[in-house]
Amino acid sequence: MSTLFRKKSLTALLTDAHSGDKSLKRTLGSMALIGLGIGAIIGAGIFVRTAAAAGAHAGPGVIFSFVIAGIGCALAGLCYAEFSSMIPIAGSAYTYSYATMGEFVAWIIGWDLVLEYALGAATVSIAWSEYFNNFLSSYFGTQVPYQWCHSPFQTSVDGVSGIMNVPALFILLVLSAVLIRGTSESATVNNIIVIVKVAIVLMFIALGWSFINPINHVPMVPSNTGTFGEFGWSGVLRGAGIVFFAYIGFDAVSTAAQEAKDPQRGMPIGILGSLVFCTLIYIIFSYVLTGVANYKDFAPGGAGHEASVSWAIQKYMPGYSWLANLITVAILAGFSSVILVMLLGQSRVFYSMSKDGLLPGIFSEIHPKYHTPWKSNMILFLFVGVFGSFLPGDVVGDMTSIGTLFAFVLVCIGVIVMRKNDPDAVRPFKTPWVPVVPILGALVCLAMIFGLGMANWTRLIIWLAIGFVIYFGYSRNHSKLHKA
Ligand code: ALA
Repeated sequence: MSTLFRKKSLTALLTDAHSGDKSLKRTLGSMALIGLGIGAIIGAGIFVRTAAAAGAHAGPGVIFSFVIAGIGCALAGLCYAEFSSMIPIAGSAYTYSYATMGEFVAWIIGWDLVLEYALGAATVSIAWSEYFNNFLSSYFGTQVPYQWCHSPFQTSVDGVSGIMNVPALFILLVLSAVLIRGTSESATVNNIIVIVKVAIVLMFIALGWSFINPINHVPMVPSNTGTFGEFGWSGVLRGAGIVFFAYIGFDAVSTAAQEAKDPQRGMPIGILGSLVFCTLIYIIFSYVLTGVANYKDFAPGGAGHEASVSWAIQKYMPGYSWLANLITVAILAGFSSVILVMLLGQSRVFYSMSKDGLLPGIFSEIHPKYHTPWKSNMILFLFVGVFGSFLPGDVVGDMTSIGTLFAFVLVCIGVIVMRKNDPDAVRPFKTPWVPVVPILGALVCLAMIFGLGMANWTRLIIWLAIGFVIYFGYSRNHSKLHKA
């Protein structure tokens, strides 16, 4: 039993990080890291999932959902920042937990992070497909037929069944190719996109403000329908679990630690800086969105359910269709940068797990010229592609949320454990008020997990069960620590 809890020592972790020929290049500075953070953060969560949460669960009360989710992220973010400044190597929460809570917990987190990054990328690719269709109809007056841009689990109001989401698969293919080409180049493209994306959010807020119809905000929290999670405060909590998706990504910065120039300083700045910025604009953005359009428009099957932001502008902001068209293009670019960071994060987590022997060596093979884990990128493309092509965005999005929330809970606990087990380790950034902050962080995240409901708990449990099978069938015996 005790081998389940074998730990990687901090020194070993740091030596690995600096070890010779197979390492990744250190090219990212502080600003590039904040860019990477915002690049990962602003995406489908705000432009697609917000309206979905408002339409089916929280109404205009979705702004409170953002507050709850923001608080959870800030608390967990402070814990993440301690770890990432302390253990500045690739692999994020997975790596931290290997040093703190032992191999088995590390495996659970690593496996769980697949939900965050791989399914996160799939969710955004599905959202990309919605806006791509909007783009085709605004600019070219045509559309991808319903069955070729929806999963088999979806049916249109006219009774057409989805077959496969081709645009989602397409964007994943393009971005996987970009990643194989190299991180530094991708970071430059990413920075340009980040600027465009932030500009669009600010523009919608500024121009949409005068189109807010105060009636849409009354009542701010529509009464509960009698079912848990359908409006009322339980709906706000459910909404928090859903829009939590909009915050996912600030931790992706930590997965790039091995490529940061000065991780000790850059990691906390990158993580917290991007988080604070995004929280503020999300709250204002969702206030404007649910004021311009009525939340009922965003209900499943409602006219504004897909590509909600462009739809709301076209419908309720006369004279601004140019803005809707511009936003559509910017959103397509913005979503691409999110997918890029998610895929990058995922391949880096697999890289670390593979170097530790928990996954086959193919996931850490570095391309001789591009210095990227290219084979891993290709395998991931196939894996993410299956989810993006054949499942609905709601399902994949909520699985992403619940998986990430679960990882956050473990990270919060990890900070407390690490302070106990290794009190003297150098901590360039220390989480304030330990254990209050980590405990509150874990509690807020658990509350959101609770809010996401039975179907999502079941999916999480099935996912973890598959992970156990792989761990006991393969990883445990192939672990480098085991061999040592
Ligand atoms: N936070 C990212 C998004 O909203 C995952 O797309």
